[in-house]
Amino acid sequence: MTLLLDEIALATARLAEAGVDSPRADAEIIAAHVHNVKRGALHTVPDAEFDARFWVDIGRRENREPLQHITGRAYFRYLELDVGPGVFVPRPETEVMTGWAIDRLREMDVAEPVAVDLGTGSGAIALSIAQEVPRARVHAVEGDPLARAWAERNITRYVDSYTAGRVLLHEGDFVSGDPREGLKELAPLAGTVDLIVSNPPYIPLGSIVQPEVAEYDPPAALWSGADGLDAIRSVERAARWLLRPGGLLAVEHGAPQGAAVFWVFPEEAGWRDTVNHKDLAGRDRFVTTMWPGE
Ligand SMILES: C[S@@+](CC[C@H](N)C(=O)[O-])C[C@H]1O[C@@H](n2cnc3c(N)ncnc32)[C@H](O)[C@@H]1O
Repeated sequence: MTLLLDEIALATARLAEAGVDSPRADAEIIAAHVHNVKRGALHTVPDAEFDARFWVDIGRRENREPLQHITGRAYFRYLELDVGPGVFVPRPETEVMTGWAIDRLREMDVAEPVAVDLGTGSGAIALSIAQEVPRARVHAVEGDPLARAWAERNITRYVDSYTAGRVLLHEGDFVSGDPREGLKELAPLAGTVDLIVSNPPYIPLGSIVQPEVAEYDPPAALWSGADGLDAIRSVERAARWLLRPGGLLAVEHGAPQGAAVFWVFPEEAGWRDTVNHKDLAGRDRFVTTMWPGE
């Protein structure tokens, strides 16, 4: 039973040549996906059962299609999510910000805290909050119909198990114009929301990104004006309208944007306790702040 391991070694070399960051891990994950075994059980696949579809999927990865599109799955905190064309693949760095939001919701002296996830994509943040804070109700907003369909699918997948209908999906636009217009479905929540979390688009127009990102993540999930901060400024406006006095906000940004995003939430504009936070790699990754009320 060495054939599969030999093929994995060959595939690893091809993926490395194509510029894939983690070629061995990707080759093993694809092999496990194709042969329907866990990665740790690859050595149990008999030579006679080697499936040539392995090389089809390796070819897709060689063309820099994201691993998660090939397997159809992404892992985020305690969730396994369905992903594919039309939805942003959730990233590990967002898990840290989501953890911050979960900790704050857990310690809040509120019977059933209300959270809002602006730009929910696959539903990763909203579903994690509902799964890990059983008292919370989460309103997930998504503007892109394709992404919303993926969110719907993931919310449905988890509805009976952990989240019990506590994630409500809304169509809405939190970026262009007045949030009271774009987020009409959230009007009943104005001034009452306990916590807002958002991983909005934040890449400056014209930036160079990896092929997996440029060709497979939806443009609406990536680009946000000349300095990349247009959507974050819109999150600030929406948060003023939605948060209750003392309500909290967490917003993700690109590693070089920490100082600029800090100043989107200054004390002079009414915000309090604005803090920069780092991701697991030690890079600036999200800002949190508190709205004391007008
Ligand atoms: C970077 S992705 C984040 C997705 C998900 N929250 C995550 O962390 O994996 C940003 C999401 O915001 C959505 N989005 C962008 N502009 C929007 C707008 N104006 N209104 C509503 N959603 C928007 C995109 O479609 C995309 O799903």
